[in-house]
Amino acid sequence: MKPKYAFNLGRVFTLSLAELFSVFENMGLAFRLVDLYREILIIETEEELDLQKLQKRVGGTIRIMRVLDSLGRKKMYGPSAVFKDYFDAKLLKEKFLPLRTGKVQVGVSIFPMARQLPLYGESKRIGLDIKRILAAAGTPCRVVLPQSDSLSLPSVIVTNERLLEKGAEIDFLVSEERIYLAKTITVQDFEDYGRRDYQRPSRDQHVGMLPPKVAQMMINFALYPEEDMHNPKCSLLDPFVGSGTIIQEAMIMGLRGIGSDLSEKAIENAEKNLLWIKNRYKLPPGRFELAASDVKDLSANLPQSNYEAIVTEGTLGPVYAAVPSENEIKQNFKNLEQTYMTAFAEFKKILKPGKRVVIAFPAYRLPTAQAGTRAGYRFFDIVDKIIKSGYDIVDPVPAVLLERFDFLQVTKRKSIIYDRKDQFVSREIFIFRIQ
Ligand SMILES: C[S@@+](CC[C@H](N)C(=O)[O-])C[C@H]1O[C@@H](n2cnc3c(N)ncnc32)[C@H](O)[C@@H]1O
Repeated sequence: MKPKYAFNLGRVFTLSLAELFSVFENMGLAFRLVDLYREILIIETEEELDLQKLQKRVGGTIRIMRVLDSLGRKKMYGPSAVFKDYFDAKLLKEKFLPLRTGKVQVGVSIFPMARQLPLYGESKRIGLDIKRILAAAGTPCRVVLPQSDSLSLPSVIVTNERLLEKGAEIDFLVSEERIYLAKTITVQDFEDYGRRDYQRPSRDQHVGMLPPKVAQMMINFALYPEEDMHNPKCSLLDPFVGSGTIIQEAMIMGLRGIGSDLSEKAIENAEKNLLWIKNRYKLPPGRFELAASDVKDLSANLPQSNYEAIVTEGTLGPVYAAVPSENEIKQNFKNLEQTYMTAFAEFKKILKPGKRVVIAFPAYRLPTAQAGTRAGYRFFDIVDKIIKSGYDIVDPVPAVLLERFDFLQVTKRKSIIYDRKDQFVSREIFIFRIQ
């Protein structure tokens, strides 16, 4: 039987999905999409995957599961009824608890893969059944269940309760037609991402900093040739380096990063942060270089290197204390246009045709309609001009999937928005390719 894997995607699931597809493409991985619904992707591959390695490689996947089996479901039945006579102690021990001795800890998580499924109370029913079966076979078991208002365990609980070391997390992925039974193999190291974000020596809230996970996802869109990933002669460039988040993530992934910025202060901050990262992750020397430069003079000021890709979060313009007005937003975009157009002209001098520029533009979200306005996003109206200057936009997710899965959130101009509830400035992420 070919191996099947399920990926639990992050909150901005379209971005996480796009990242996985990009990484699969880079790895040359042949896979068949088995099913997809919002935060869950199931694929079948020809060969076994190294899941520990893959988990570290991606920023947008919360956990990776191995799918062990699946059963058909009748419309009204949830997993407890469908799997009623399925589990016995031998199966549980062999499939989920090999090599575990003493009291085991078992978590139960359910992931819906369709709308309006009858899942209320299901994890508890299954958990108690499993506990009973194991106890009857002489294996004491502590069952860890999701809070009553959710169906799956947060990854923090899986890690903190050490479920993967002391037992297992058993997952049920419930679609309209089938229920997949899976076992969690890896969970994202949220503590390490937290350190990479909050423990850096220099943080400049005013300029805005990209969350490390988002930086990692953007790097993965760059489609770096696998053979050049660790080639010290190949570099990734961030021309608006700020405090260095993108370069730091590139370094952790084994790449070499070059950063530049108009602001001397930003270069100083980035230097401190990147040295901290180098020491913390025991990275070899020579993994980063920084240069002060206005983006308009970029090609003249950069060190010589073979530039594989540009990955960057461009300047956002002024930092607003409150939601900006329609006019302020228009004015800001107008002011930013020239900086960005000259930047894109410079990028073409640095990268060869076919190479990618992955960039986050600011987008503003107006929460409520005011007089003369409508609620919703205000986007930077520059994309057509960039295309005319010699760029294509890469589909972040294959277009056929957008037709098939209407919940995927790719904008008409082929971008994906990363935003947070509490922020009115969002990031609109594009993958450009030089013609
Ligand atoms: C949004 S910040 C980048 C933050 C960065 N991604 C991080 O996570 O730390 C944008 C940066 O662009 C720089 N910048 C603004 N205008 C520039 C220009 N014309 N040329 C080069 N850098 C510029 C600013 O100094 C700022 O550091």
